[in-house]
Amino acid sequence: MKKFMSVCILSGLVSGFSPSIISAKTLSGQEIFTRNCSVCHSVMPPPKNAPPITPLASRYHQRFKTKKEGVNHLVTYLKSPNKDNAIDPQAITRFGLMPALVLPDAELRTVAEWVWDQYNPNMGMGRGMGMGRGRGMNQ
Ligand code: HEC
Repeated sequence: MKKFMSVCILSGLVSGFSPSIISAKTLSGQEIFTRNCSVCHSVMPPPKNAPPITPLASRYHQRFKTKKEGVNHLVTYLKSPNKDNAIDPQAITRFGLMPALVLPDAELRTVAEWVWDQYNPNMGMGRGMGMGRGRGMNQ
């Protein structure tokens, strides 16, 4: 019986641990966003303490032709936000400057790619508050 119990505990440990080990290695952009960005950023309007991601993604798509350029700019901005670099300087006036994020480069890149992919052509500039809620999540 004692042995049986310890086998149960052991296998519980193993199955309890393995998913977190796997996800630590392969964090998706969405997970990195939830952990590090969602305190301030909502994905869709209305905003929390920062502009929502979907309209930001629209701006990036307007400003940059390729995903590579957009993602490079995003990664640079996340490391050292500043007014000259900002794609939407009005957002700084409204929300204040975003603090620099201390994350591994690989994670910054993954989350930047995720932000870029949140673009939904049906949303236009996404200025209409609350517009398009529930849409755009199905890619
Ligand atoms: C402490 C709050 C906070 C956190 C955490 C935060 N942001 Fe921001 N973010 C802001 C604010 C405020 C702005 C608007 C002012 C600005 O552009 O600096 C902003 C702006 C941005 C912009 C627009 C940049 C531009 O080019 O103008 C992007 C993209 C962005 N955030 C992505 C992210 C991502 C991705 C994360 C997580 C990895 C994140 N933010 C974490 C507050 C935050």
